[in-house]
Amino acid sequence: MKKEVNKSKYWKKLASHYKKMRNVQMRDLFADDAKRADKFALQLDALYYDYSKNRINDKTMKYLIRLAEDCNLHEKIEAMFTGEKINITENRPVLHIALRNRGNTPIYVDGKNVMPQINEVLAKMRDFSDAVRFGKFKGHTGKKLTNIVNIGIGGSDLGPVMATEALRKYWAKDINCYFISNIDGTACAEVLNKINPETTLFIVASKTFTTIETITNAKTCRKWLVDALGEHAVAKHFVALSTNVEEVKKFGINPDNMFEFWDFVGGRYSMWSAIGLSIAIAIGMDNFEKMLDGAYAMDRHFRETDFAHNIPVIMALLGIWYNNFFNLKSYAVVPYDEYLKYLPSYLQQLDMESNGKYVSTNNEYVKYATGPVLFGGAGTNVQHSFFQLIHQGTTIIPCDFIIPAISHNEIGDHHEILLSNVLAQSEALMRGKTVKEAAEELTQAGKSKEEVNFLKKFKSFEGNRPSNTFVVKKIDPYTLGMLVAMYEHKVFVQGVIWNIDSFDQMGVELGKQLAKNILPELQGNAFGEVHDGSTENLIRYVKRLRK
Ligand code: F6P
Repeated sequence: MKKEVNKSKYWKKLASHYKKMRNVQMRDLFADDAKRADKFALQLDALYYDYSKNRINDKTMKYLIRLAEDCNLHEKIEAMFTGEKINITENRPVLHIALRNRGNTPIYVDGKNVMPQINEVLAKMRDFSDAVRFGKFKGHTGKKLTNIVNIGIGGSDLGPVMATEALRKYWAKDINCYFISNIDGTACAEVLNKINPETTLFIVASKTFTTIETITNAKTCRKWLVDALGEHAVAKHFVALSTNVEEVKKFGINPDNMFEFWDFVGGRYSMWSAIGLSIAIAIGMDNFEKMLDGAYAMDRHFRETDFAHNIPVIMALLGIWYNNFFNLKSYAVVPYDEYLKYLPSYLQQLDMESNGKYVSTNNEYVKYATGPVLFGGAGTNVQHSFFQLIHQGTTIIPCDFIIPAISHNEIGDHHEILLSNVLAQSEALMRGKTVKEAAEELTQAGKSKEEVNFLKKFKSFEGNRPSNTFVVKKIDPYTLGMLVAMYEHKVFVQGVIWNIDSFDQMGVELGKQLAKNILPELQGNAFGEVHDGSTENLIRYVKRLRK
């Protein structure tokens, strides 16, 4: 049984080191060390990671790295890459890395190399996406399929939504992608109102093929299609992405129109698999494979690089530093690229569904904080929403800024203004503005003594607020692959240190179970279950309004 991490030597050393570091000012650290920015920066291909604006020194990093070593991180990384069953509650290996194993080295699960089946599905995705894109696979009435509707939720939605939007500039000219995820009928209605059945391909994406939202939405779309084109049209307008061939057949989709993936791919890690079919149709399989190449480059970096120079490891350790020692319970991801606007939602599932756990792999309740709250949005919009709190709130929220040096839309000086904003944010968060500086500024602006005295505190910024900055050249498929794999591995490292199973998601089950009880009560008259007073009242009130 593994010793609890908070009892370990380097955890304790970090706890006492924190007491020395908590009041250290980053601006002093920069002033004292002209090389700090170079020292705390890493690069992989064109990705540059500046982590110098963190409340760290050499000792912090040394202790954090020792902590990772003591948690057997090396062995755990190898265990993942070699197909060990590290998802212990479901007794499964965790092999999203196999989906982009571009070196095609064998990876064995229960003695069987999984690479041939992965390559087979990739080849099938290439054939099918080409056939749709070039109009060889046509709709029932002979028209080209130009509306691609992905029906899925969670990991069967967020990856395709995020990646297609991120790579919108790479879309085939005549293709449009739509996504239906929410069970709210509005999600279906709004998409179906925009499209023509003759030119629509529905992709039903569900690992289990039992998720109520997806199956209900898929049935509604199927009925809509059959009403317009007849039952025979289904074969030309519906495909399935799943691990569950039986359920796919039951739904009425021919297994020939099914793209398979496997239990060793977690939902939130599945955009590299058949779940990425909508991405492949939108951007073409060559570009999809470039995305896999980018992820593969990050995988090799993660597996082969020593911890001190390992981007996901350093990111994870800084997260641990803030979460467990500074007691900061959230962090923000802010891409300064409109096309990455869905990245924070994607990362929210990746991080929070993976590490939002309070039972350790020792089958004990953990006695330390695990996964933080992740939120974010695209800059500069969020500067005008939640950034007030990030600058002057009573809690500190470390930020990740993601910057492409070149925009896909270089219009006038838009991109330089955007870049100046993100660089200014990280500078402002770090440096702050003292009360004295604020007073001087007010005086220079011609304010009276009383006004200066009144306003100087409001106008000051304590600063010393941490951020990471990631600079890439441009958001292209390769870069996106790198970035997403980087966050996946960051989440993995934190799960190892917290000694939790990052690959199950039992926490979403209870709500689903209770909804099954409530549904017949909403539809009928009787209460089958005994609920608490509040839930009963709410059920009655909603029913009254719906009469
Ligand atoms: O929210 C729980 C969850 O199981 C996610 O992990 C998953 O991505 C999502 O539901 C959808 O599941 P499926 O792909 O099986 O429909």
